[in-house]
Amino acid sequence: MNSIRRATLRAAALRLALNCLTLCLAFICFAALSFAPGSRAQSPQVPQIAATPPMGWNSWNHFARKIDDATVRAQADAMVASGMRDAGYIYINIDDTWEGDRDAQGFIHSNSKFPDMKALADYVHGKGLKLGIYSSPGAKTCAGYEGSLNHEDQDAQTYAAWGIDYLKYDLCSFRDVMKTAATPEAAHQMMADAYVKMRDALKKAGRPIVYSFCQYGLDAVWQWGPAAGANLWRTTGDISDHYARMETIGFSQAGLAKFAGPGHWNDPDMLEVGNGGMNTEEYKTHMSLWVILAAPLLAGNDLSTMTPETIALLTNREVIAVDQDPAGKQGDRVWAEGPMEIWSKPMADGSQAVGMFNRHSAPMTFSVDFAKLGFSGAVKVRDLWADKDLGAMSGAYRATVPGHGVILLRVWPR
Ligand code: GLA
Repeated sequence: MNSIRRATLRAAALRLALNCLTLCLAFICFAALSFAPGSRAQSPQVPQIAATPPMGWNSWNHFARKIDDATVRAQADAMVASGMRDAGYIYINIDDTWEGDRDAQGFIHSNSKFPDMKALADYVHGKGLKLGIYSSPGAKTCAGYEGSLNHEDQDAQTYAAWGIDYLKYDLCSFRDVMKTAATPEAAHQMMADAYVKMRDALKKAGRPIVYSFCQYGLDAVWQWGPAAGANLWRTTGDISDHYARMETIGFSQAGLAKFAGPGHWNDPDMLEVGNGGMNTEEYKTHMSLWVILAAPLLAGNDLSTMTPETIALLTNREVIAVDQDPAGKQGDRVWAEGPMEIWSKPMADGSQAVGMFNRHSAPMTFSVDFAKLGFSGAVKVRDLWADKDLGAMSGAYRATVPGHGVILLRVWPR
């Protein structure tokens, strides 16, 4: 009897000791995570970089090589005048073709299209906006301009000195360097190292700079990009201002949701809204899909010549709120039947943004079943583009969606 009781007591004491040990370890881990520099649990004075998907404008889609100081200033002016800044668009990003020569010490200078980059940054900052720039880990950028290879520290220092807030780092000619690798694994390592090198250079330069990877989704960048310092990473090749290309990119993002979150986002490329190659329904699909994907919203049109319709598409507050939701959860496809697809995005307040997409060119009628989205019982529904409360519902919502169009709903539990 006694020996049994002793054994029971010993077992209880052991359990207690183990529990204490587990608690202590949990406390140490929590403390380490909370106080480690750069941890997620930052003080409110140090906002996390790219806490929500970056919003702004980029020069490439509309202006390509025809970009200069005056045009960038005009875009900044229009960003404010159009109401886009107040809707959340903050970054004015200069893409390829600003680069000039390096001086005798190896420091990069802008070319004659950009006479004074620091003055341009001051101008943009004076409007309550931020300035972005572009480079490559290769010797040359995609347009054949000077890249950062072997000048990473100097370039990061230069960007910081100019007051740059965002860097798009485009693989381009670094692919030639990768061709010298003996194996695909070694080529991958070279690429990852090149991105890490610039991450470290930016860190050393000491200015918070959003770091955007552009290597077209190679080697499933979503799996290793965040650890290599990416705040966002392109998941695909280049977009163009055609429904077929936008559709291919946008609807191929299924399955990537789990890799996105505050500070690190999947980037299906910049917006084409307002560039003229798609109709209104198609641009609505473009915007709706991008906000459900929690994608960066970088307008790619000429902001100084926008129609009221383009402004309305880009600045719809309730649509933008889907993208900028603080929970930072990317949405995903929940149902598809031929060209009809339903995508949903969980929101911080327990609601969901729901897109009913029709990829067919003719109208299609179909239903969204609220139970299948995880709602039990009645829901409250709002049509965001129509700016219309649809009221309380239970069961399903059946609607006709225009060809290449979308109905974007927000659905709350009741
Ligand atoms: C690549 C990128 C584009 C753009 C151009 C500039 O194609 O994917 O977004 O930056 O280079 O040369």
